[in-house]
Amino acid sequence: MPVIAVIGAQWGDEGKGKIVDLLAEQADVVMRFSGGDNAGHTVVNQFGEFGLHLVPSGIFSAKATSVIGNGVVINPRVLLNELDTLRKRGVDTSRLSISDRAHLVMPYHILLDGLEEEARGGKAIGTTRKGIGPAFADKIARLGIRTCDLLDRDIFRERLHAVLNGKNAILTRVYDADPLSEDEVFQEYCRYGEILAPHICDTSLLLEKAINDGKYIMLEGAQGTLLDPDFGTYPYATSSSPMAGGGCLGAGLGPTRIDRVLGIFKAYCTRVGGGPMPTELKDEIGDSIREVAHEYGTTTGRPRRCGWFDAVAARFSARVNGFTRAIITRLDVLDALPTLKICTGYELDGEKIDYFPAGTSTLEKCQPVYEELPGWQSPIREIRDFEQLPAQARQYLSRLEELIACPISIISVGMRREQTIVKQPVW
Ligand code: IMP
Repeated sequence: MPVIAVIGAQWGDEGKGKIVDLLAEQADVVMRFSGGDNAGHTVVNQFGEFGLHLVPSGIFSAKATSVIGNGVVINPRVLLNELDTLRKRGVDTSRLSISDRAHLVMPYHILLDGLEEEARGGKAIGTTRKGIGPAFADKIARLGIRTCDLLDRDIFRERLHAVLNGKNAILTRVYDADPLSEDEVFQEYCRYGEILAPHICDTSLLLEKAINDGKYIMLEGAQGTLLDPDFGTYPYATSSSPMAGGGCLGAGLGPTRIDRVLGIFKAYCTRVGGGPMPTELKDEIGDSIREVAHEYGTTTGRPRRCGWFDAVAARFSARVNGFTRAIITRLDVLDALPTLKICTGYELDGEKIDYFPAGTSTLEKCQPVYEELPGWQSPIREIRDFEQLPAQARQYLSRLEELIACPISIISVGMRREQTIVKQPVW
């Protein structure tokens, strides 16, 4: 039975929440594998509208087990609030498992994320200030505190004591900020540990068993490939890998176990935070896309930068992830536009290039080379059959397919679950 990975192919916010929610209907296990509560997935279903940050979208399914994998950094306060809200609105949260190897976002991570951003001044990354970068930095620096540590008070106290001394030194001496009280942090996190303990387990074992039992498994990506610390627009990137490869590590799964890799692309591009975005539209077309599509961050409420579809970045993303299928979301947002543009190459120092450069300053110099296609200028939200789409919409999709070099399986034409055109089932 298939293991599929659902991966953000651009700068995040591609509409993965809706797609994962849709596919979760058939899934037995839905697992988040990277990021933290910097992610924001909007899901609209029979329970209402939700902005999920940590809980996998599979939580709404009547049968799926939702799993937060080892590759996620967890702010327990945010997780518990989210679970509470879900429960109050009638969602059963009992089938949530949390990896015992997942790292925790601690109060000093959140403080440091803000202070580091302030210190960057005009070169700020525009992080979500949720402490994600500092938490992943501590993981690699071997200073992290994990969920399994919460299960033993003595070990947790020892770990916290060792780490907090150093953090308080940085807070007070580098940033002139107030230190944190070890006792307060200890008590607060012990409380979280007690509540979360029944959910904490070895989730890679759970996954192994599910695979052996022939279950349907979905790895739910967060953020997008162009924010990957290796392949994204570094340093304007996030701190864990949102890519298919990151799925293996963050779920505890060998690469040979993933059967399908679905790349989720918005029909245009958006980005939040700093960093290069070659097709950004700083004009009334960009503004109208933002307003029509309500392109404001689910996590921070920041306006998203909007632009034309960047096929150079898309092809790059398909290559480094090994997408087997593409899914195009929010096609309806383009309904009113008379002409659509697709970036098919960049002009760099007078030469046309068709690759995605590594250097941020190089990418900033790249001018998009556009191809123009006619718009369809009619509403498509109620269309469910690919053949019923206006000819211009099919032409646009077929050109995207050609440029991404990956067949398109699903097209999303609205927020609601049923506003979806399935060209080819993905399970
Ligand atoms: P961080 O992940 O909070 O450290 O932020 C690093 C960069 O990733 C910033 O540009 C954020 O705006 C961006 N980012 C983080 N999470 C998301 C997301 O879920 N969607 C879109 N951008 C994100």
